[in-house]
Amino acid sequence: TGRVGLDIGFVNTASCESAITFIDGDEGILRYRGYPIDQLAEKSTFLETSYLLIYGELPTKEQLEEFTDNVTRHTMLHEEMKRFFAGFPREAHPMAVLSSGVSALSTFYQDSLDPFDEEQVHISTIRLLAKLPTIASYAHKTAIGQPMLYPDNDLGYVENFLRMTFGVPAEKYEVDPVVAKALDRLFILHADHEQNCSTSTVRLVGSSQANMFASISAGVNALFGPLHGGANQAVLEMLEDIQAEGTDPKKYMEKVKNKEDGVKLMGFGHRVYKNYDPRAAIVKKDVRAVLETMNKPDPLLDLAMGLEDIALKDDYFVERKLYPNVDFYTGLIYKAMGFPTEMFTVLFAIGRLPGWIAQWREMINDPKTKIGRPRQVYTGETERAYPSK
Ligand code: CMC
Repeated sequence: TGRVGLDIGFVNTASCESAITFIDGDEGILRYRGYPIDQLAEKSTFLETSYLLIYGELPTKEQLEEFTDNVTRHTMLHEEMKRFFAGFPREAHPMAVLSSGVSALSTFYQDSLDPFDEEQVHISTIRLLAKLPTIASYAHKTAIGQPMLYPDNDLGYVENFLRMTFGVPAEKYEVDPVVAKALDRLFILHADHEQNCSTSTVRLVGSSQANMFASISAGVNALFGPLHGGANQAVLEMLEDIQAEGTDPKKYMEKVKNKEDGVKLMGFGHRVYKNYDPRAAIVKKDVRAVLETMNKPDPLLDLAMGLEDIALKDDYFVERKLYPNVDFYTGLIYKAMGFPTEMFTVLFAIGRLPGWIAQWREMINDPKTKIGRPRQVYTGETERAYPSK
């Protein structure tokens, strides 16, 4: 009632109070529960960071062991669920398979759907963390026509995911520790980012008291889009196109600046960061070293760095404060690890999952939460009479 404010895209409107992630976009600062992202990337592990985001404090050694053990024991999918994968077209995008798989969890686990039952929320939390990598790897295996592998409880979280994705039953899969460490670190960098599009979606769906699987499946779909998580795939495709067509990078940048055919420099710009994205800074530092250690040099890295150099000196980008975001360099690492381009956004989803869970739980436990129900400014016809016939 009364006048409503118009804020398209929620540029100035906070939808909630949150104590999980702090961002200062002008300074390029990102902290989870107060801990700077660079320190977590350096010293923590993905499961420890997940615990921190979800429960608010770093775990003790015993708490982390228990948490890890719990997650490890829930990595298998219900056998019946495998039939889903066979039903999708082979060429389906794995993000679509992933969101369907997460949604399907609420059909298999009807014992953990009550958002106000602490024990049920606990078990859904563990099930999601445990099963998302399994669903993701099965989406990939189905796409390439290889058998799905059961999880191996002797392996760590990331190692198990790598084996399920790249292993085959006929051979023992040797996890490359360099790859596992690099992927774990990338997951930490993606683990939360306050009220971004997918997280806001998770909260909005959850605010109707829909269960956690339903809410997070909606989040996966929001992440799919190229302006959000889908940007990591779009960046690599952009670099490959420029290379394949032999386009001069300067010419490509002219196209971007002239907004020709709506072309953007994918992996650049951010709603909140008006300075270098601190996650991108860490990935940029890592990318060359990781490619060198893996002995997988990639000319696309030089192309990407060349595009960044042009952008950072160009008025168009400087005036608009456009810097590389987290998606600009990650794809080059994923590619070197052997992931097909379509899987890049799936990797983002695995990384972002603890953030979605933490935010959903904070929302459901906050007595101030109300169902999300934005208003509108109506621009249609005023009242008119239905014509007499
Ligand atoms: N290339 C060229 N111009 C751009 C870009 C870009 N990547 N990003 C923004 N601009 C321009 C935009 O055209 C606008 O220009 P003008 O003032 O002349 O109209 C100005 O910069 C402001 O941009 P905006 O679109 O109003 O900003 P926004 O906050 O609504 O959008 C964004 C943020 C991330 C969607 C946008 O920067 C973008 O589309 N970037 C490319 C996609 C991308 O990399 N997304 C990943 C985001 S970070 C991690 C994640 O969420 O996955």
